[in-house]
Amino acid sequence: MERIKSITKNLSSKYLWMPLMLLATPLAAQSDGLSGYSQATAFYVVVGLLIVVALLVILLALNLLQLVKAVMKGPESEAKESVSVEEGPSWLVKTWAKWNALKPMEEEEDLIMDHDYDGIKELDNHLPPWWTALFYLSIVYAVVYILVFHVFKTSPLQEEEYEIEMALAQALKSEKEQTIIVDFDESNVPYNGDAEALADGKKFFEAQCGVCHKADGGGLAGPNLTDDYWRHGGSMTDIYRVIKDGVPNTAMIAWESKLNPVRLQNVSSYVKSLRGTNPPGALPPDGELYEEDANN
Ligand code: HEC
Repeated sequence: MERIKSITKNLSSKYLWMPLMLLATPLAAQSDGLSGYSQATAFYVVVGLLIVVALLVILLALNLLQLVKAVMKGPESEAKESVSVEEGPSWLVKTWAKWNALKPMEEEEDLIMDHDYDGIKELDNHLPPWWTALFYLSIVYAVVYILVFHVFKTSPLQEEEYEIEMALAQALKSEKEQTIIVDFDESNVPYNGDAEALADGKKFFEAQCGVCHKADGGGLAGPNLTDDYWRHGGSMTDIYRVIKDGVPNTAMIAWESKLNPVRLQNVSSYVKSLRGTNPPGALPPDGELYEEDANN
């Protein structure tokens, strides 16, 4: 579990805006277990949303503060206040101008450069401050990046990250496989008549096997599975084995790699349950008569 924890911790750094990552990774690592990866992703989405909301709230608070200030000044200063509001541009316009370092139109004369192409003139505007701020931020980001990934190596590089993900997938896979504990194999698989098992088998049969055996099992390219005549035997173990291993050199492939043992059992049980259903348009008997009670 310790290893998986560290894996989730590392993985979670993947799509992250780095400062956020540094801040949030230890928290995300607390989410226990294998589902930690998706939990972590959800966690970051929530943190991102929270930050956006927090920013909005701060903006709103600032505006409210200004309003409160104006009210606090009292009615005597109200006239003056309203005049000054009318005179100056709004707070938003001012911030916009500041962040873009916009020069008023009247000052444009000073900015004009001394060349002139067919009447087209150029202004010597500076880079907008927000742009330079981003630029400096990217430098800071790069420094943090180098420290995190190449100096202190607290987060894995791509290749390592790939290895970690593969290891995690492997761990997940083996954990899944381990949870399927079956006490049968093709020599003794029992029929499972539980409604749940049959429903599971039916679902799979109709989706995957129906193309050849028809959804009702009446047979199409593959033989009729509802009568007492079988090419490869009609016992539970026979059916299980045919589905698992297929019939070489025919369209009936081996399904072992696509079905875990439990589902294989469910599908086999479902096929077995089709006996005697006599669906309309079923193919004629094919193979040898299988006596239900003689075997199995
Ligand atoms: C691409 C066509 C195709 C698909 C899909 C297919 N089968 Fe078959 N199946 C066949 C053919 C053809 C045969 C006959 C093989 C032979 O000649 O012995 C067969 C035979 C069988 C038999 C043995 C029948 C007998 O008479 O002994 C069973 C049982 C069976 N299939 C079940 C399934 C199940 C369950 C699935 C889905 C998981 C499936 N089949 C999917 C074509 C298909």
